[in-house]
Amino acid sequence: MPMNFGLPFAMTLLRTLALSLATASGCTASTYHIGSRAVSASSKAGLAWPNGPYVDISQFTYTGKVSWYYTWSPYSISADIEFVPMLWGQAQAAEFSSTINQTIASQHVSAVLGMNEPQEPQQSNLTPDQGAQMWMTYLEPLRQQGVRLGSPAPSSAPSGLTWLQDFLASCAGGCTVDFIALHWYDVNATAFQVYLENFHATFQLPLWVTEWTCQNYNNVNAQCSLSDIVEFMNQTQLFMDQSTFVERYAWFGAMENLQGVNPADALMDTSGKINNLGKQYIGADSPQPSTSGNAKVMALSTWAVTFLALTALIGPFALF
Ligand SMILES: *[C@@H]1O[C@H](CO)[C@@H](O)[C@H](O)[C@H]1NC(C)=O
Ligand SMILES: *[C@@H]1O[C@H](CO)[C@@H](O)[C@H](O)[C@H]1NC(C)=O
Ligand SMILES: *[C@@H]1O[C@H](CO)[C@@H](O)[C@H](O)[C@H]1NC(C)=O
Repeated sequence: MPMNFGLPFAMTLLRTLALSLATASGCTASTYHIGSRAVSASSKAGLAWPNGPYVDISQFTYTGKVSWYYTWSPYSISADIEFVPMLWGQAQAAEFSSTINQTIASQHVSAVLGMNEPQEPQQSNLTPDQGAQMWMTYLEPLRQQGVRLGSPAPSSAPSGLTWLQDFLASCAGGCTVDFIALHWYDVNATAFQVYLENFHATFQLPLWVTEWTCQNYNNVNAQCSLSDIVEFMNQTQLFMDQSTFVERYAWFGAMENLQGVNPADALMDTSGKINNLGKQYIGADSPQPSTSGNAKVMALSTWAVTFLALTALIGPFALF
């Protein structure tokens, strides 16, 4: 059975990103032409994006297949695709609640994501009762602003489905969940489809797969090869593009360092340049196992300098 997936760097990241954004105001106030953009079978793809503005997101958006992104936080970056804010967990609740109304208005937000892997101690670590309280306090009121709300996203450990059922029971009708968000880490594309079908059958709601990738937690020495990944992405992405109940998905991951997850799953090289798997994901190239793109030196912008300075202040930053 799949082990849990950890994103222990997320909280450090969120703090860094928050500080960075606060330090360099103005960068989020770019043009957003997203409110009216409908999600269709060809635009379900999104980016789980922990990179802030330090990686060029336009490398991933020019084909039009990628239509949205999220940052595990309430903080957007400057991008020409739809931003989906997230309430990661309790540690982020104050920042979230003090900024979310303005973000919804200024970014034309259509959907907000609930807590990250609530049943995992290393993640948002909430009992179903705590999750229900948090939801009713911070998320349910946002429906007055016309946004749709995604469930807390459990990891693919077997406790995920039951956590969600217990959460809904604790809500006692007080949580309006418009779609189920979930994560999945394993190696069998058919098992992935079966997993999604079971969640859909259980909750009778559309699904957003906000993290998934080809990662073996049962046997860490038997990871997917690049050609396994190419085939796995091909099959799972095609399945979701054609599915009537999967609304959106985001591969893990669009980042330079996958933090212990199989590095061959990365959509960019270690210098932040989109690689062949990234091009497959955005529909620029047909699936073809091969080496990733050439490394290139990234220009150090003022942003990057700010970022590095903050990183040094805050301490070890797991992304580097
Ligand atoms: C945000 O809007 C909600 C209504 O959707 C309201 O209950 C809440 O007080 C607002 N929060 C702030 C910080 O203004
Ligand atoms: C992949 O998953 C499917 C569905 O659960 C299963 O029937 C099949 O045997 C699995 N394949 C392998 C190689 O384990
Ligand atoms: C991608 O999927 C299509 C449709 O199933 C298939 O015809 C094609 O061979 C696949 N390509 C790879 C590299 O897996």
